[in-house]
Amino acid sequence: MAAEKILQEMAELVTAWYRQNGRDLPWRRTRNPYDIWISEIMLQQTQVDTVKPYYERFIRTFPTVSDLAAADQTTVYKLWEGLGYYRRASHLQEAARTVMTEYQGVFPHTYEELIGLKGIGMYTASAIASIAYGIPKGVVDGNTLRIIARVFNREDNIALQKTKNEFGKIMDAIIAYADPSAFNQGMMDLGAMVCTPLRPGCGRCPLNSLCKGYKMHTAGRLPVNIKKVNKSVIEYMTVVLQNDGRYFMIQNEEGLLENLYGFVQYECDTPSEFEQLFFEQFGLRIRLTDYIRDVKHVFTHREWRMHIYGAELEKGETGTGAHFYLPEEIEQLPVPTAHLKVLKACLKAENDGQRRRFCE
Ligand code: ADE
Repeated sequence: MAAEKILQEMAELVTAWYRQNGRDLPWRRTRNPYDIWISEIMLQQTQVDTVKPYYERFIRTFPTVSDLAAADQTTVYKLWEGLGYYRRASHLQEAARTVMTEYQGVFPHTYEELIGLKGIGMYTASAIASIAYGIPKGVVDGNTLRIIARVFNREDNIALQKTKNEFGKIMDAIIAYADPSAFNQGMMDLGAMVCTPLRPGCGRCPLNSLCKGYKMHTAGRLPVNIKKVNKSVIEYMTVVLQNDGRYFMIQNEEGLLENLYGFVQYECDTPSEFEQLFFEQFGLRIRLTDYIRDVKHVFTHREWRMHIYGAELEKGETGTGAHFYLPEEIEQLPVPTAHLKVLKACLKAENDGQRRRFCE
């Protein structure tokens, strides 16, 4: 088959398959660009099943871009709690405010304007442009790269930007023949449901008649995806300081968990070093009382190993009340999963009578 003909055929097969077999997802019942934007931001780093309840709650709480622009930041973060990659939440609000001030509250209509908004990269701009406005821009991510590699039997390393650019051009050439929304979402669903990384379901794939990887028995070993990422490991002493039934928590000013609340942690090696650093930062004398346990949390390029200790105020130290929160107050604060694990470990150790106090 001539090259152009294959592209056209692929466009038709994917869209027809999507109309019959596509997943029924809450954000697929609308073409409202605001709703689609929220869903695409949530889906950037998070699985579909996890996103569903978050999406529905978010849209219920902030039905329009102006509601989001005017919202209190803590409420936005609270709705995001547990989704991870919290910077997405502050970028969302920043973009919502830009839409209000620079676009008079009307969501921008072009790929170029969309990509100019905070938090919107190439994938998200293509997804919103195609789904909300029918603009023929192909989405490029792990799913679509894998399908292209297999259908065209390409051994290019999809971890390389060069390959992403080249396969992106193929996506754009195909989508020119299709309904852009159905084609892009069809590719997402094919990648999630049929053309999966391990043991692809070629027997039930709508593309098997034209797939070179299927014909040549190479589909299962494609794509080539060789990444060179160094995951850095950070060892923290993480301290749960309790006073009068309250827990000491601080709001992070910057970094991975910007704006979220957490326990104090330092990259230090000994309890006395921790006590000194804590005094320098907060002007409070504390005493680490017991080791609780270690908890690990894995981010994309980072891993935290948190060595959790309990602590109390030194005798005579009153504390000002600032930073100390009751458990029911903590429930209202946005706390990252990593530190919810810390709190859980501490509460469990307490319930199980396992707090080993090393100084009385
Ligand atoms: N992943 C990213 N965008 C998506 C969408 N619109 N539907 C399903 N999965 C997605």
